[in-house]
Amino acid sequence: MFHSIRASVLTRMRALEQIDARDRQDGTPRLERLRQVAPETGKFLALLAANAPDGEYLEIGTSAGYSTMWLALACEMLGREIITFEVLPEKVALARETFQAAQMEETVKLIEGDARQYISQYERIGFCFLDAEKEVYENCYDMVVPRLVKGGLLVADNAINHQDTLQSMLDKALADERVDALVVPVGWGELICRKI
Ligand SMILES: C[S@@+](CC[C@H](N)C(=O)[O-])C[C@H]1O[C@@H](n2cnc3c(N)ncnc32)[C@H](O)[C@@H]1O
Repeated sequence: MFHSIRASVLTRMRALEQIDARDRQDGTPRLERLRQVAPETGKFLALLAANAPDGEYLEIGTSAGYSTMWLALACEMLGREIITFEVLPEKVALARETFQAAQMEETVKLIEGDARQYISQYERIGFCFLDAEKEVYENCYDMVVPRLVKGGLLVADNAINHQDTLQSMLDKALADERVDALVVPVGWGELICRKI
């Protein structure tokens, strides 16, 4: 998967990595920043997604589509689709550019809007990456976990660098008897929940 990433994808990944690094240093307002995962986290997500069970593959929080590209690499290999939700129109426009430039439009379905209005449409979730505003994490957790298939994965970003804000959801996940859960120190810290 990582040894054969085509040039169109690599070029767009490098471009977004540069914009993200610049955003973090030059005082770009928070909502305008891409706030994307690190490359190491992208690879980690792709590895997890490549081994997730059959079902719907979701991402909550697209931004410009950087993490989506990593997930789409796994989906291309598996012949699956990744459905990604983004609420801000400016980010939706950037993400559309990304998926066109990376030639991933057949693998990625981008939905504009608050993911919470859509999650109930999915009843067999095999994989979900949660990377939205921290205020909606617990609500998303409560909606996604009952809809995961057996062995399905929910992965949530920022479990370490936003631990204080996410404490209630983290406590809930780590004590939740429906899942096996663990926080791993990859990138900003990933909470991984596997449905029992
Ligand atoms: C941290 S960024 C996502 C970065 C992206 N996952 C990446 O690594 O490239 C969070 C994004 O989630 C979006 N967002 C926040 N709340 C949302 C919601 N309820 N539904 C859909 N998107 C949401 C924000 O507009 C923002 O673009």
